[in-house]
Amino acid sequence: MFSVETAASAAYIVAALLFILALAGLSKHETSKAGNSFGILGMAVALVATIALAVNHSIQPAGLALLIGATVVGAAIGLWRAKVVEMTGMPELIALLHSFVGLAAVLVGWNGYLHVEAARNGPDAQELAASGLLGIHSAEVFIGVFIGAVTFTGSIVANLKLSARMKSNPLMLPGKNFLNIGALVAFVACTVWFVHEPQLWLLIAVTVLALALGWHLVASIGGGDMPVVVSMLNSYSGWAAAASGFLLSNDLLIITGALVGSSGAYLSYIMCKAMNRSFISVIAGGFGIEAGPSEDKDYGEHREITAEGVAELLSGADSVIITPGYGMAVAQAQYGVAELTRKLRDRGVKVRFGIHPVAGRLPGHMNVLLAEAKVPYDIVLEMDEINDDFGDTSVVLVIGANDTVNPAAAEDPSSPIAGMPVLTVWDADNVIVFKRSMASGYAGVQNPLFFRQNSAMLFGDAKDRVEDILHAL
Ligand code: TAP
Repeated sequence: MFSVETAASAAYIVAALLFILALAGLSKHETSKAGNSFGILGMAVALVATIALAVNHSIQPAGLALLIGATVVGAAIGLWRAKVVEMTGMPELIALLHSFVGLAAVLVGWNGYLHVEAARNGPDAQELAASGLLGIHSAEVFIGVFIGAVTFTGSIVANLKLSARMKSNPLMLPGKNFLNIGALVAFVACTVWFVHEPQLWLLIAVTVLALALGWHLVASIGGGDMPVVVSMLNSYSGWAAAASGFLLSNDLLIITGALVGSSGAYLSYIMCKAMNRSFISVIAGGFGIEAGPSEDKDYGEHREITAEGVAELLSGADSVIITPGYGMAVAQAQYGVAELTRKLRDRGVKVRFGIHPVAGRLPGHMNVLLAEAKVPYDIVLEMDEINDDFGDTSVVLVIGANDTVNPAAAEDPSSPIAGMPVLTVWDADNVIVFKRSMASGYAGVQNPLFFRQNSAMLFGDAKDRVEDILHAL
């Protein structure tokens, strides 16, 4: 016979399948739009089913009003933020959204504890105790609050770092690894205690401990590793949601949380491999990373060039590689860059693009901008595909990139970004760096490329300078 419960369970299975299709769709450029649509549809199905279930459980009118009010307000804020956010601000928005998942998990955990505690002698608690499930319930509460609180403060620090409201250098507290390990040991010990004997003070203690640990873990990670941190927090937020799912006995939340948790963990692992970072070190808050030397090395003088000078160099070039970075996104220079590419190709110059996996502020950032400006896909190459070709290149145009073309990563073992693969632009005959000043990049590390014999700086906003070159050509 039809019941709302059965219909909701069926809807949850449909939603879970739609989320799996969403993940599959998002794995390729061509199918990513469809993937997004599946995700939106899945979430809509899940919301309707959840509200129907609440109504069926004879929710109080005030509760229903709250539920609908929260959904409408949340959806309105979400739509507004997603509409106005700049592409460059996307990672910090994502970090903020992860913090909400963390906070929700903490509140669900606390509610789970208070609910049972309030009815200590009531049927709920007695039923749990009689079935021997009280210990499992307590573990779910404790673990959910812990993961949620770590995700909450970790994501807030990531948001502050990504929006440049907090310095991106790693925080180096004395004995930082012991602090992290100590916090984990204390968590395990308190979990055992809480399962044995649930007490309010233990829950307060784990909440405070996890809030501090989340803050410290992300604050200890340097700017260059932030892309991995964002996907790692994505993973944490998934596990936090799954923990809430167990507490609320909500299968969909468990499935969705596990999907987000495992895909985020795998993405972090792939990114660590691509950037030659230790996965364990990043998830353990920069474990094993020591403070680099102070940044007052004297690299000598840099050379400047004018737009006319660059136009002249380009006119005589056989082959040109453009390596864009975050500055191209800030300046919105991609249209001028596309125009410059067309002009040079019309003159018979071989023009290609070299894209670093973490150029910009989100995976695929540069590819999206170049596609928007209609740069043909076949001349846009990944770092591994183009790195051997710089030696045969007349001119490299580094447009608003910095960390991703920093030779210190390859040559200076004491550099905070040592070991990270970079575009070896310095092998080319001439390197022109477009930026507004001598300031360092996102990782806060000085770039010796700017002082090389074959490098010249073209100062100013990248869009204006590209237009000047187009004029001069
Ligand atoms: P960055 O190292 O961030 O450097 C960008 C450069 O662009 C800056 O040095 C800046 O110099 C210049 N710039 C800014 N606005 C400009 C404008 N209007 N015109 C001209 N130049 C401008 O860039 P990158 O090489 O793309 O490296 C990305 C960094 O972000 C890496 O450290 C990466 O780890 C991190 N990150 C990446 C991601 C992902 S997933 N892609 C996510 C988070 C963090 P001036 O200020 O002197 O102009």
